[in-house]
Amino acid sequence: MASEQVVVGLDVGTTKICTLIGEVKGPRQVEVVGVGISPSRGLKKGLVVDMEEAAAAIATSIRKAETFSGYKIIGGFVAVSGGHLDAEIARGSLRLADDRPVSRQDLSQVLDAARLEEFTDGRHVLHVIPKGYVVDGENGVQNPLGMLASSLEVQGLVVTSAVAPIQNLAKCVERAGIQIDGFVAAGLASAHGVLSEAEKQLGVLLMDLGGGTSDLVWYREGEVEYVGALPFGGNYLTNDLAMGLGVPFPGAEEMKVRFACAVPDNVEEDESVDVGSFSGERTRKVSRRFMAEIVEARLLEIFGMVKDVLEANGFDGVLPAGVVLTGGTAQLRGVRELAEQTFHVPVRVGPPDGLIGSVDSIGIPGYATGAGLLKWVLAQSGDVAGSRQMRRQMGWGAKLRGFFRLFLP
Ligand SMILES: Nc1ncnc2c1ncn2[C@@H]1O[C@H](COP(=O)(O)OP(=O)(O)OP(=O)(O)O)[C@@H](O)[C@H]1O
Ligand SMILES: [Mg+2]
Repeated sequence: MASEQVVVGLDVGTTKICTLIGEVKGPRQVEVVGVGISPSRGLKKGLVVDMEEAAAAIATSIRKAETFSGYKIIGGFVAVSGGHLDAEIARGSLRLADDRPVSRQDLSQVLDAARLEEFTDGRHVLHVIPKGYVVDGENGVQNPLGMLASSLEVQGLVVTSAVAPIQNLAKCVERAGIQIDGFVAAGLASAHGVLSEAEKQLGVLLMDLGGGTSDLVWYREGEVEYVGALPFGGNYLTNDLAMGLGVPFPGAEEMKVRFACAVPDNVEEDESVDVGSFSGERTRKVSRRFMAEIVEARLLEIFGMVKDVLEANGFDGVLPAGVVLTGGTAQLRGVRELAEQTFHVPVRVGPPDGLIGSVDSIGIPGYATGAGLLKWVLAQSGDVAGSRQMRRQMGWGAKLRGFFRLFLP
C-alpha cells in the first residue's frame, strides 16, 4: 500500500468532537478519508472543565476516525475557542546585513519579532497574520519576498489565547494518545472552511455560532481585521427554553431543534407545542410564538455583544459581502433572517465547502471548523508541510467497517 501525505484536524467543541483525516491530493486539495464524530463531554463554553471526561471523548472521536480511514493518527492540528481569545495589532522589524533579496526566513523572523514585541504578558500566541510590510521605509508592500532590502518591518494581527485553557486542552489531546502539531483559532478554521476569496476581498463577517461559544472573524479588503470568540452559544438558548418552559435541558434541546424559530413573526400566533411529551409530564401546551420570543431575545443579546466587541476593534459596520453563519446554531430556523435584521446586510448560512472524499456527514454548518482546519493547514504551509507521510495500517475492510460504524450510536 503506497504511503500518502496525511493531515489531521481535531475540533474539540462544547457539543461535539470532530476528527478529520485528509490525504493531500495536490496544491490546496485534500480528500477526507477519515471522519470521527462523538458527543463532547467535560467542556463548557469552549473550555475544558473535566479533563478525564474530555480526554475520553476526544479519544472516542480519534479512534472512530482511525477505524474509518485505516490510519493510525500520530498528531494533528487542534481548533481553539473560548472567550479568552483576543487579537491585537503588533509591529516587528528586522535589519538585513546588506541589500539582498528578502528570503522566506527573513519573513518568518520579522513575524517572530512582531510576536515577541508586544506580548510579554504570558499569553499564548496562536497566529501572527501579516497585514502589510514596510521595505526600506516604503509602506504598503503586500509581499516583500525577493525584494532587495536593508530593513524590513511588518504590521501583523497577533491572535492570542490565555495559557491555562490551551495547556488543559493540550493535556487532554495528549492523554487521548496523539501529539499536537499546532493550535488554530476555531473561527479562522471555520473561515477557511466556508468563505470564498471574493467574500474576503469585499469584506465579510464570519460568525460560528456553536453550542458554548460564538467565534468571530472579520475580513476587510482581503485582510483579517479581528479574530475572537464570545463564551455564548446555542446552549444558552436551550437553557432559556428549559427555564422559561420548565423542562429539563435534554427536552428543551429537542424542542429547540424541532420547533424553535428566531423570528416570532414567522410563527402563527395560535401554534402550540406539547411540552409534556418532552418533560415526561401529562399534556401541557405552550405557545410556539412564546418559544420564539425566548430564543429571539437571547440571540439579539448575543448579536449585540458581537457588535460591541467588533466596534471596540475598529468595526465600521461596512460588510459588502455580508455575514456568513456557521456552527450548529446556524441551523436554527430564522437565525439568518434575524442576523439580517440586526446587521442590515445579506446573511448566508455556510456549510463547509471545497473538500472532496467522505464529506457527506460533514456537509453541514456545524462541521465548518473541522473541515476548515484541514484547508487551513494546507493554506498555511503549502502542500505537504503540516502533514505526515503515512501508510494505512488497516485494510479497506476496516475502512468499510468504520464507514458503517459511523451510522451506529
Ligand atoms: N437544527 C438546529 N436548530 C437549532 N440549533 C441547533 C440545530 N442543530 C444544532 N443546533 C445547536 O448547535 C449547537 C452546537 O453547535 P456546534 O456543533 O457548532 O457546537 P460545538 O462546535 O460543539 O461547540 P463550540 O464551538 O461552541 O465549542 C448546540 O447548541 C445545538 O443545540
Ligand atoms: Mg465549534
